[in-house]
Amino acid sequence: MGVLFLFTLFLQKISDLDLLKYHSDFLTYLEKQNFTREPKNLYEPVDYILQLGGKRIRPILTLIASDIFSGSHTEALPAALAVEVFHNFTLVHDDIMDDAPLRRGKETVHEKWDINTGILSGDAMLILAYQYFENYKPAVFQKLAQLFSKTALEVCDGQQLDVDFETRNDVTIDEYIKMISLKTSVLVAAALKMGAIVAEADEEQAQHLYNYGLNLGIAFQLQDDYLDTFGNPDTFGKQIAGDIIENKKTYLYLKALEVANTSDRENLLNLFNGKEKNIEEKIKQTTSIFTDNNIPQHTQQLIEYYTNKSFEFLDIMTLNEDAKQGLRTFGENLMNRKV
Ligand code: IPE
Ligand code: IPE
Ligand code: MG
Ligand code: MG
Ligand code: MG
Repeated sequence: MGVLFLFTLFLQKISDLDLLKYHSDFLTYLEKQNFTREPKNLYEPVDYILQLGGKRIRPILTLIASDIFSGSHTEALPAALAVEVFHNFTLVHDDIMDDAPLRRGKETVHEKWDINTGILSGDAMLILAYQYFENYKPAVFQKLAQLFSKTALEVCDGQQLDVDFETRNDVTIDEYIKMISLKTSVLVAAALKMGAIVAEADEEQAQHLYNYGLNLGIAFQLQDDYLDTFGNPDTFGKQIAGDIIENKKTYLYLKALEVANTSDRENLLNLFNGKEKNIEEKIKQTTSIFTDNNIPQHTQQLIEYYTNKSFEFLDIMTLNEDAKQGLRTFGENLMNRKV
């Protein structure tokens, strides 16, 4: 509840973009779908995860993009749902891979059911997502499907790198940025571009919007990593410090290795190489090293850097100033989110 309430506050009318309207139209469209069918053990988890809520950032971006190019967002609803169903599929599998107990303040699918259920319901969601493109005429369908397939493979690449990095000690910040671009940003970017495709927007303009999304997506994942350690456990909706428990090579960790003195650096390396068996102790010490080395400030700076970089792509678009301002405000609000 807390999660959704906090985020709904964020969905104001900004300039010409009525985010609350996009959100509620999206939810109405989602409600009309009937995901629960036989066999129940396959489809109930699909319905469960989609009803758990979440911020619905990606579908809202699809609707925004369609609206700014064609003046209508309703035609983009099937594409928006495809993106959200795909996103939720990635979460179900991601939670298995990250051994995560909580999602949106509730039990993860594999905790509530079991791992096999999470795998197969996730697979079904990937196909269900794809099916929504059948609502479009062949030329639009082809473009959507092409972008979707490319994006979905990139997300897999990113997720594999994320897992590979858990056991590596030589990950660089550049590699990290590449990894989060793949696991997270390409989907944010594709969500926007799909709206542009539905609106049959000019390709160059659609590409600028895609690049806005790529940079915003990097800022978004940096903020996610920050909140994973420093978020409020009552509202964040996920297990706090899950990334520390799993030895994730986040920006927080990599920047700390870069700026810390020798003793902090050695402690951090030991903590992430299994030397501390007590998990609570590992979390406490890692968090202290992050705080002592101003990692929250460093992370906020990089979030601002990528958010501002995303705005550069808006600047070069031939879009009305109101729409640009709406997208800038969206980016600024994302930067200040707490969930
Ligand atoms: C979580 O995405 C996964 C990341 C890419 C960080 P969101 O933060 O958009 O999750 P929901 O959909 O709002 O729950
Ligand atoms: C999410 O990365 C990336 C994808 C789901 C593809 P995280 O593992 O950080 O996402 P959360 O924190 O579990 O939502
Ligand atoms: Mg995760
Ligand atoms: Mg993950
Ligand atoms: Mg995370």
